[in-house]
Amino acid sequence: MTSKPDSSSSSSSEIETNDARDVLRERARDAIAKQPARTVTILSSLLAAQDELGYLPVEAIDEVAARMTASANSVWGIASFYPNFRFTPPNRHKVELCWGPTCHVLGAQHILQGLLPQLGLDNEGETEDGVISLKLNTCLGVCAHGPAMSFDEELAGHMSLDKAIRLVERIKAYDEEVERGVLILKDVERSKAEIAAKAAVRTAERAAMAQAAAAEAAAKLAAEEEARAQADAEWPTTEVEKAPQPPVAASAVVAEAAVAEEDAKSPGDDALAGDSPSVDGSTLSGEEPSEETKDD
Ligand code: FES
Repeated sequence: MTSKPDSSSSSSSEIETNDARDVLRERARDAIAKQPARTVTILSSLLAAQDELGYLPVEAIDEVAARMTASANSVWGIASFYPNFRFTPPNRHKVELCWGPTCHVLGAQHILQGLLPQLGLDNEGETEDGVISLKLNTCLGVCAHGPAMSFDEELAGHMSLDKAIRLVERIKAYDEEVERGVLILKDVERSKAEIAAKAAVRTAERAAMAQAAAAEAAAKLAAEEEARAQADAEWPTTEVEKAPQPPVAASAVVAEAAVAEEDAKSPGDDALAGDSPSVDGSTLSGEEPSEETKDD
């Protein structure tokens, strides 16, 4: 009997974190709730959960038990009875070989014996590279076209070993391309994240520099204002302006006295411009004396 999966020891990265487990639980719950059949049973719920997840993790068993009001042990007993249920995550691609009576007679054994070494397997199971899960199916339902196989749910009839190997190699090549694309996308996402992180650091640095420059300018301005205020306070004209000034009237008197004194020292303009005769009888203005003046 298949042993019950232990969620604490599962090697799947999908269920290593609580978030991944929550996602599995939610997907299983939705699949169980959306069953189109009128009669919902434990078996139909297990099938719906496996169709959605590709296997039955502990979370799916618990969700089926909760939906059908049954114990997890009873659900597990039913699931482990049927070989079509699996309890570990499958690889990325599923290859099935019909092992039914018709296909067996038509050459399924020959195909299986040739395919196993190509996949590095001894029996049905998962390849180590994580690409292919090989499964023997009791009947794929196309007995008239046997030997039959399915590749990622695509049926192929009248199979031969060469055709089976070619299709498996095609799946591997496709998977390699997809994985390369996924790696490229991851690199792009990583580069974007790094660029965004660097941009954020540069922005923070610029903001810090601008803040420091503003603080320095403010400090400089404050220092200049303080120095200017201190200089104004110490400026000597301030004391002069504060000293008592002579009255305006007294200043005017002094000025008038100075003008009068100056006038007394030098002949006035009237004397220079007058007609007073000089010693030789000529006037200071240079005009010749008139005849009358001469006779006198
Ligand atoms: S026996 Fe192979 S398809 Fe039915």
